Amino acid sequence: MSKFKYTPENEAKFQEQIKKYPNSDSMMLPALWLVQEQEGWVSPDAMVFVADKLNKAPIEVYEFATFYTMFNLKPIGTYHIELCKTLSCMVMGSRDLKKFIKDTIGIEPGQTSEDGLFHFSEVECMGACGGAPMFALNGEYHENQSVESLEKVIKECRDASKSSK
Ligand code: FES
Repeated sequence: MSKFKYTPENEAKFQEQIKKYPNSDSMMLPALWLVQEQEGWVSPDAMVFVADKLNKAPIEVYEFATFYTMFNLKPIGTYHIELCKTLSCMVMGSRDLKKFIKDTIGIEPGQTSEDGLFHFSEVECMGACGGAPMFALNGEYHENQSVESLEKVIKECRDASKSSK
């Protein structure tokens, strides 16, 4: 029995989405995605929850969640920076942004800052090549970025974190 539960809003989304899928295999991705939207990561407990909801064995959900790199399998920082490293973004300066993240936050791809505020991932093309270089911050796209605009975004995150304490 899992301790994890969807919020009432996510339970409603789940009930809405499941109507669109003919079988529980195809509902696996949306169900896990809702977990990650809610918690920021997909815990083993949440995998059991999804398995129960879809009448699957937990191992089937585990296999699914570990196959897709977009699922975080451990807790990550409050702000998840996903920097595109594919050609257009690389040519337009993503390496400068990567260096800036390392210099100012002190993290490499796959790492979370010591204060738990930021997690950094390098990802393949996110389909926004026309706005290269780009990154997503908690899923929200930031296009045509520069070191200066990234610095501003990082400052806004830090300020928001301070004002919420
Ligand atoms: S190459 Fe970066 S979004 Fe496509």
